[in-house]
Amino acid sequence: MTTLLDIQNLRGGYGRVEVLRGVDLRVNAGEMVALLGSNGAGKSTLNKMICGLCPAWSGSVHFDGQDLSGAHYREVVKAGLIQVPEGRKVFPNLSVLENLELGSFTRARERRASNLDKVFGIFPRLKERIGQAAGTMSGGEQQMLAIGRGLMAEPVLLILDEPSLGLSPLLVEEMFSLIRQLREDGLAVLLVEQNVGQSLEIADRAYVLENGSVRFSGLPQELLGSDELRRAYLGL
Ligand SMILES: Nc1ncnc2c1ncn2[C@@H]1O[C@H](COP(=O)(O)OP(=O)(O)O)[C@@H](O)[C@H]1O
Ligand SMILES: [Mg+2]
Repeated sequence: MTTLLDIQNLRGGYGRVEVLRGVDLRVNAGEMVALLGSNGAGKSTLNKMICGLCPAWSGSVHFDGQDLSGAHYREVVKAGLIQVPEGRKVFPNLSVLENLELGSFTRARERRASNLDKVFGIFPRLKERIGQAAGTMSGGEQQMLAIGRGLMAEPVLLILDEPSLGLSPLLVEEMFSLIRQLREDGLAVLLVEQNVGQSLEIADRAYVLENGSVRFSGLPQELLGSDELRRAYLGL
């Protein structure tokens, strides 16, 4: 199994406040890894550090044979490590098409047209709304747009930060079947979710982050199969 993302002893925070206290995490090629943990555990901070959006104090990030420790986010994107950030940050005043086109600004620009077709194949709704300002769409549609924009960059690893947050139950189902589809197509995915049950159902492996440290890493069955672990980390 090829290791795609290899994070070692990552530390960092905001100002002088330490948030990540030495995190080790790995994602292999084609793997779906769930990153769980309560609000404020440091999941989004970890994503930001991996993607060069927030500097780490120490530790290393290797991706697909490259040392990306301390790299600029543009280098991270160029390497194919693509993040769909928390809170579906689409550009509200730009159209659906413009938002998607921005996804291929740094990577895969020469295949923009064919990737647009692919994204429209996955999300026909986006094609119907191609000229609409992103900010006028529903939360679910904006989340699809954010994911579509990520796919425009031809990710090698896609990090999804709370993709189902704030979606209706029906859309949550749709979101999870989409994520499952992406993985079946061979994409490696790091999935950050509050929706623990559904994430563990589709994940190959899982990590639980608490207070900036990895408290559990292993198979979903181990986590779900132990009353103690379930109670301690999942509140189930
Ligand atoms: N921009 C920021 N400035 C200062 N503190 C932050 C910032 N973003 C997050 N934090 C703090 O870092 C900790 C981890 O937050 P976060 O990574 O967002 O957790 P999670 O994504 O697991 O909910 C929290 O205590 C949060 O208040
Ligand atoms: Mg978060």
